[in-house]
Amino acid sequence: MKVSVTTLPLRELDVDLLIVPVAEDAPEEHTAYLIKALGAEVERALADVGGKKDDDALVYPAEGRAKRVLLVGLGKTEEADAERVRRAAATGASVAQKRETNTVGFVVPDLPLEGEATGQALVEGFSLGSYRFRQYKTDAHGAFDGPQRLVLHADAKERGARRGAERGRVVAEGVNAARDLVNLSPDDKTPTLFAKAVEKSGKRCGYEVSVWNKTLIEEEKMGGLLAVNRGSQDPPVFIEMTWKPEHAVNEKPIVLVGKGVMFDTGGLSLKPTKNSMDFMKADMAGAAAVVGAFEVIAKLNLQLHVVGLIPATDNRPGENAYVPGDVLRMHSGATVEVLNTDAEGRLILADALSYAKTYRPELVLDLATLTGAQVVALGSNVAALMTNNRDAPEARLQALRDAGQRSGDRVHPLPLDDDYKEQLESDVADLKNVGGKEAGCITAGKFLEHFVSYPWAHLDIAGPAFLQSAKPYRPKGGTGFGVRLLVEFLRERADPRKRS
Ligand code: BES
Ligand code: MN
Ligand code: ZN
Repeated sequence: MKVSVTTLPLRELDVDLLIVPVAEDAPEEHTAYLIKALGAEVERALADVGGKKDDDALVYPAEGRAKRVLLVGLGKTEEADAERVRRAAATGASVAQKRETNTVGFVVPDLPLEGEATGQALVEGFSLGSYRFRQYKTDAHGAFDGPQRLVLHADAKERGARRGAERGRVVAEGVNAARDLVNLSPDDKTPTLFAKAVEKSGKRCGYEVSVWNKTLIEEEKMGGLLAVNRGSQDPPVFIEMTWKPEHAVNEKPIVLVGKGVMFDTGGLSLKPTKNSMDFMKADMAGAAAVVGAFEVIAKLNLQLHVVGLIPATDNRPGENAYVPGDVLRMHSGATVEVLNTDAEGRLILADALSYAKTYRPELVLDLATLTGAQVVALGSNVAALMTNNRDAPEARLQALRDAGQRSGDRVHPLPLDDDYKEQLESDVADLKNVGGKEAGCITAGKFLEHFVSYPWAHLDIAGPAFLQSAKPYRPKGGTGFGVRLLVEFLRERADPRKRS
């Protein structure tokens, strides 16, 4: 989709659909201006909608060059934050889909939000709301493929809107790329095929990718990754991604780790199919988020040294599969007693986290669809956030929460107090891989913490990564959760003043 910004008079905007977000308390002169440009039909619709939140009306105006005008209520101006703007834009996206409009315009609303943030939110909401996964539809040929052109009409805040619109386009592309990866059929994303897709993405976007094969993983003694892979037909891979710009502001890299379980059957501790194994192709959503974020970081040319690590395998009950009772020797040298082969994510992440130490990182962030307990605790809109007690943990939590709030990928902190660790005590090894039925999301975080020796934050995205029913601008299936959060967090780190 092409995105541009114009200051052309509103009535001259030649589009199939013009989306006009209006606040409940929009000033007289703004509504007068809309009516003057778009005519009496719009006036009547404005009187109806009145800017009420979640209300909208489609108008076929006699005046102006826009074929259709969609009024979308924003609610009160002071409450109209980026999320509200994204949702209004997504309402526009669903009308654009339904009416199969090729060109779409937006009147950039004048809000307390900066022009840049408003422009970004409009384009993000629209592009994310327009997403459709049609790769496996045999009737796709000739079907409507979404709008081709998006024009933002901005007067006062034109320059900000331009910057924001471009960033929104790039961010949404990254999120949609992550969604595509999650929605792929498991057959089309074996670890090796996934690694190929990442290599391709790296070439296209300009970051480096190196892929380790099983032999290298064995040499590195990644006992967790190898154990989980034992029941599989397909060998594991370990993917390293690097973005190192010349003028990076950080001396030590920020490392992003993504759980890459390409399919999680549970292994010998087999999952039931319904509402459980049936969506476990999404168990690589952490990995997908890291890839999506890398695409955006590179395209935005963020001046930050960032490394991505993805341990990738599937988890299956093959003849040679690891069994409950197995004691593993991990990459770190620690031993782990496996008591449930379905707690596999923490095993492959533990190896990646212990390897991450070799980078002497400033910070390591991991994203993982790690526990069903996360879904129980926080649902599918908000991810769980945990951090260890090094280097100003409070500031780290706050920065991540703020980035979550601004980006729309919300996170909420859970404690990692030491008494939770008791639940992981093993009779035979240094620790066991399950912590019992209490506080399952936290004990998984506690397990990971054992393998970490630097500032670190863990995001359990089990709920938000994959939806059973559509939410505003997030379709059913893979959501690309984490991409926007990571980009917003890293953008702030690269240049705190540029924040919007
Ligand atoms: N991939 C699952 C977690 C999950 C659950 C992701 C629901 C998305 C939605 C993970 O590997 C898993 O199976 N976790 C177990 C851990 C338990 C055996 C300690 C769980 O949460 O039940
Ligand atoms: Mn599992
Ligand atoms: Zn899993």
